[in-house]
Amino acid sequence: MEIVILPTEQQCGVVAADVITDAIAAGGTTLGLATGSSPLFVYSELIRRHRDDGYSFAALQAFLLDEYVGLPAAHPESYARVIRRELIDHVDIDSDRVYGPDGMSEDICAAAQRYDTDIAARGSIDIQLLGIGVNGHIGFNEPTSALLSRTRVKTLSEQTRTDNARFFDDIEQVPRHVITQGLGTICETKQLLLIATGSHKAAAIAAAVEGPLSAGCPASVLQLHPHATVVIDDAAAAGLANADFYRYVREHKPDMQRIR
Ligand code: GLP
Repeated sequence: MEIVILPTEQQCGVVAADVITDAIAAGGTTLGLATGSSPLFVYSELIRRHRDDGYSFAALQAFLLDEYVGLPAAHPESYARVIRRELIDHVDIDSDRVYGPDGMSEDICAAAQRYDTDIAARGSIDIQLLGIGVNGHIGFNEPTSALLSRTRVKTLSEQTRTDNARFFDDIEQVPRHVITQGLGTICETKQLLLIATGSHKAAAIAAAVEGPLSAGCPASVLQLHPHATVVIDDAAAAGLANADFYRYVREHKPDMQRIR
């Protein structure tokens, strides 16, 4: 696991955007996209590169990590709509090639299984962007999610519903159920890129990076992945016992391992 600690959220966004465009330059054609506040710094930098530098996403397809059950795609807080508002509408990726789980299906369990099959049928994901919940969740894999889990229906914890209530008029509108890529599904991605900023993420980052591999902290599954990059600001790094070592490693990387 590579841990990159930077002073500001904006710098995290720039380095994470570098990781993504490096993966595309290496032949990647399929992005894994995440919602939430954390990826916004990355998306604003990708949008800037498209607008100012002419960087093109036209050859890419993308898969969403997760979706609420019971929110129509047109609902402003459905992840299908959020990702369009935050990224897709501002770059040249074909919106018909941005896929997400069908949270409105009459058979949501079958829809979840189908999503796994669809990802495999369209080729695997080259780079998956991830945020992290304060309880260590990635996607919507709440604590105790099986480390080898597949895309499936999950029940949200009250912590996650409370955290996400800021996007809705009140907490009662936050769905209780979701479809999320499983931890096993996520780990099939060629490269994982987790971004976290702010002191409220420090405990979750410490557990994910330095804690035991445990379903109690779903993000600790990154420890199993052969190519995982964690980009965090100083505030989110505050709970790491070995932060100085990670900074030292980044300063002394051999050139061929540098992100840029
Ligand atoms: C949601 C999303 C996750 C995201 C998490 C943290 O629950 N399903 O993918 O990582 O929120 O969100 P934020 O970055 O807004 O703190």
